[in-house]
Amino acid sequence: MPVPRPRFDLPLPSEITPRAVYEGRRDWLRMLAAGAAGSALAGWAARDALAAAPLPGKNPALPSVPSALGGAGAEALTRYDDVTGYNNFYEFGTDKSDPHDNAGTLKTRPWTVSVEGECAKPRTFGIDDLLKLAPMEERIYRLRCVEGWSMVIPWNGWPLAALLRQVEPTSRAKYVAFESLADKRQMPGVSRAVLEWPYREGLRIDEAMHPLTLLAFGLYGEILPKQNGAPVRLVVPWKYGFKSAKSIVRIRLVDAEPPTSWNLAIPREYGFYSNVNPKVDHPRWSQASERRIGEGGLGGLIAKRRPTLMFNGYEPQVGQLYAGMDLRKFY
Ligand code: MTE
Repeated sequence: MPVPRPRFDLPLPSEITPRAVYEGRRDWLRMLAAGAAGSALAGWAARDALAAAPLPGKNPALPSVPSALGGAGAEALTRYDDVTGYNNFYEFGTDKSDPHDNAGTLKTRPWTVSVEGECAKPRTFGIDDLLKLAPMEERIYRLRCVEGWSMVIPWNGWPLAALLRQVEPTSRAKYVAFESLADKRQMPGVSRAVLEWPYREGLRIDEAMHPLTLLAFGLYGEILPKQNGAPVRLVVPWKYGFKSAKSIVRIRLVDAEPPTSWNLAIPREYGFYSNVNPKVDHPRWSQASERRIGEGGLGGLIAKRRPTLMFNGYEPQVGQLYAGMDLRKFY
């Protein structure tokens, strides 16, 4: 099976979003949420074709928890255009611009997510029920791609643990398996055997229940753009970006480590854990440093690199999950 090699691409010319611009967006959202939250819900279906729309039912206070939960704090946010124009979503092609250019065909409504397996109350959730399941939060997280670039993204969502608690996992639920949609009619990349479809990912149950692990429905205060994994995706900020499965349709609680797409494709390069770790190199390149998208001179051509942090900077929050484990073996 021909397998794609993740590539180092030149960055898009870009700048950092000035915080004032971002704050301006939030003010606009606050006004919108105060006046039009109800009608926003009704209008979502009509807006499905739009790349970005305000989040319905959004908490106008936009609680931001960057420092308490290990967010990226004062780091500059990556420009919205880069967050939504430089993506990995192989169901829509393997170039960084393909998801932006091709994901318009993804139909995000109606949408259901089934949560099943080792649990007392398996259930299929409609996307509207999911949106209301827990208070919508804002989390500013670093995203570190295994290819060596990173972004700082303000996500909107709530902890995955809130969903898992609903189905009451049994004591046999040791892992959680995630499946993305794989529909050839909507996703041109699924006709190519670049990965085994559907895109599959997995977490250990304690990782899945960790308060940093987010189910995201939006970014920058807007409904998730399709190229970023609409209508619902995972965000696991201390792991390489590929652990954060997009456009999820099925979540299974299981008793054994589940197969994952990248591990099936190239097991020597991509392990199950995939924690961001500057001390464990990828077999073909160093993981010690990263290029923050939008940084560097001449539109990024003069690359400025910054050191990669252990667990992507979330070591105080998640380090103890791996106490006693050999992280070279469990990469
Ligand atoms: N999820 C699916 N279903 N398909 C993919 O190809 N790519 C992963 C991850 N989730 C991917 C996916 C990779 S490699 C990364 S780095 C992140 O999504 C990128 O997320 P972003 O495009 O929102 O930055």
